[in-house]
Amino acid sequence: MDFLEVMRKRRSCRAFDPAKTVSRDDLLKIVEAGRLSPSGCNSQPWKFIVIDSPEAKAKLCDAIVVENGATGAPWRSQVSAFILLVEQPAKVMQCVADHYKDTQRFAPGDIGMACMNMCHEADSLGLATCIIGMNDQAKLEKYFNIPAGRDVRLVLAVGYAADPDAAVNKVRKSLEEVCSFNNWE
Ligand SMILES: Cc1cc2nc3c(=O)[nH]c(=O)nc-3n(C[C@H](O)[C@H](O)[C@H](O)COP(=O)(O)O)c2cc1C
Repeated sequence: MDFLEVMRKRRSCRAFDPAKTVSRDDLLKIVEAGRLSPSGCNSQPWKFIVIDSPEAKAKLCDAIVVENGATGAPWRSQVSAFILLVEQPAKVMQCVADHYKDTQRFAPGDIGMACMNMCHEADSLGLATCIIGMNDQAKLEKYFNIPAGRDVRLVLAVGYAADPDAAVNKVRKSLEEVCSFNNWE
């Protein structure tokens, strides 16, 4: 399939089939897509924690609800597995560190790229994903022994879509709005 077609068809899934379990084999293929992703200075500033046991999933489901009960994933109990994308200290070239005075400058973007590749790998395996951006960092550190301050940038929900044939509705800004040649306008 043409790659643009692949991207047009991928969607964030918010209704998973709770009866279907994603195999560890498939989960590792998804992580492998993250591991192979590009990163600034090839620093690979990530650690992937796969959450697939019932006990760990119950804790994760609690940790993606923040104050006042707000959550980006009200459907979280249906999900077969989650993958935490944790930002690690990045070892970047000295000139980059000197210029930005910030060795983590590229890391959130790197994590985003890894996550996107993981979504596409899952898609190619017939699985569905949803990126979850909001979490309770303190709870995640406590539940999963994450060293203090290692930011869980993203949580990726992975499962089987309840309705794999649901229509994909891509809501996007127009090409004209987001793209120009050779200048801002
Ligand atoms: C950083 C980030 C955080 C996101 N957090 C959530 C979330 O908490 N809950 C959710 O349902 N979708 C979340 N999404 C999915 C977006 O809402 C989705 O990608 C966007 O609406 C475009 O739809 P599509 O992925 O189906 O093309 C997140 C996406 C990104 C990139």
